Amino acid sequence: MNAASRAKLNQTPEWTALAKHREEFGATQLRELFARTPDRGTDYTLRVGDLHLDYSKHLVTDETLRLLRELAAATGVAELRDAMFRGEKINTTEDRAVLHTALRAPRDAVIEVDGENVVPAVHAVLDRMAAFADKVRAGEWTGHTGKPIKNVVNIGIGGSDLGPAMAYEVLRSFTDRSLTVRFVSNVDGADLHEAVRDLDPAETLFIVASKTFTTIETITNATSARDWLLTELRAGQDAVAKHFVALSTNAEKVEEFGIDTANMFEFWDWVGGRYSYDSAIGLSLMIAIGPDRFREMLDGFHLVDEHFRTAPAEENAPLLLGLLGVWYGNFFDAQSHAVLPYSHYLSKFTAYLQQLDMESNGKSVDRQGDPVDWQTGPVVWGTPGTNGQHAYYQLIHQGTKMIPADFIGFAAPVHDLLPGLIAQHDLLMANFFAQTQALAFGKTPDEVRAEGVPEELVPHKTFQGNHPTTTILADRLTPSVLGQLIALYEHKVFVQGAVWDIDSFDQWGVELGKVLAKRIEPVLTGDAGTGELDSSTAALVTAYRTLRGR
Ligand code: F6P
Repeated sequence: MNAASRAKLNQTPEWTALAKHREEFGATQLRELFARTPDRGTDYTLRVGDLHLDYSKHLVTDETLRLLRELAAATGVAELRDAMFRGEKINTTEDRAVLHTALRAPRDAVIEVDGENVVPAVHAVLDRMAAFADKVRAGEWTGHTGKPIKNVVNIGIGGSDLGPAMAYEVLRSFTDRSLTVRFVSNVDGADLHEAVRDLDPAETLFIVASKTFTTIETITNATSARDWLLTELRAGQDAVAKHFVALSTNAEKVEEFGIDTANMFEFWDWVGGRYSYDSAIGLSLMIAIGPDRFREMLDGFHLVDEHFRTAPAEENAPLLLGLLGVWYGNFFDAQSHAVLPYSHYLSKFTAYLQQLDMESNGKSVDRQGDPVDWQTGPVVWGTPGTNGQHAYYQLIHQGTKMIPADFIGFAAPVHDLLPGLIAQHDLLMANFFAQTQALAFGKTPDEVRAEGVPEELVPHKTFQGNHPTTTILADRLTPSVLGQLIALYEHKVFVQGAVWDIDSFDQWGVELGKVLAKRIEPVLTGDAGTGELDSSTAALVTAYRTLRGR
């Protein structure tokens, strides 16, 4: 469906039908829904690859789901999805195709952008990455002094950092433990300082990851890393080639920085930064886990891509998750969405999803540039579940806000956990299951009273329940399962952007801050006056300069 020909979302009959249904739904309780359909716990489930997805603890009926699917049909979600997979330029404000799915397409697939099949180029880069990763892992890539590389430092920010940093954590048990792999993103010099202070520069490889190769944080850190390396090694510019590689779409800027383009691994403008860690941006991860594991991860992505592309609407997991988010965000006024993994290895997972979701769908104009008068992307947040239980779960259980949440857990712990720690897994998972149960069904005042609780404490000890959750359960956290999970969320975000009629693939909202920072920096150093600044910023900058003795 052509974006221009689309009716405004909240003027469609499908939206109106959902609004009416919401009114009728009222305060229906999950307890009631489960009582009405005893098999709900098995009926409302889906299987995608290795992921078992339970959506029974959602405030929905068959009718809700039908109406939501009708909204998806009316808003052209499937058409936009097909256009994306075909390589059409659905990122209209940047006039770009959106083809992260091509990054994990099999070698013999044909996906065209501007009439050219991009798949051979994707695999050529993957092959070069694999050859390089193997060399580093085998100790055959040596530094300027002839020592093999033992440390890998990825320098990047946003999509050029969060993905590989997250995935490295997730797949730690699959990594070569003899390598030290670190990630530097913050322009605060402390980040780079802590990353390199105990490293031998002769054994250190810097991977400069930047799609544009103009991002000030990354170029500043890369320049400082190069200075540190050359100073420590007492070496000339020729040492750079042995210790720096680049991941970018911008060969010109890479060369300008002094990195030989022979040591550049490229990707393309049709890969959004936040959708890029399965491109060359994943090189640090590939070095850590090896090319075979990396390919397993890509296969996991591809499996869910194919599911999203071909599964009927009733069984389509990303479609379902996206529509559930629309239901709560637009019809229950839920403002946020929690992602609560019950795996220590997923500690950076939600931070990764924050960029994926919030940079994609944090928009307030539609694809025609008109203001939307419906809610768009939620605030995404969360940390590993058991820690959250002792911190902010109180608010989810008994606060006044509706916070739909995803619970992600695994049947088995990672393969190399110390034998003595394996028994802890059941305790972890008992918490996992208990929390969604408590959130859904709560505890009524009568149940509290039946425990002999004094009347004045009954309201305090009552749990309202009715807090919606999705449970995603897999056997084990493998590279393939990670790929499946990420693709699931990528396509969920896609579905929501399509329904809301926003461009999920641009990020103009990050530009203004960058421009203003450039203007303020010379004021901080005393090279410009505060004259152009508003009174608050001028006063703050003056206070800063005073504290710095300037
Ligand atoms: O924060 C804006 C942004 O453009 C992100 O979309 C991107 O992931 C990040 O900056 C880094 O950009 P680059 O890879 O070009 O350095």
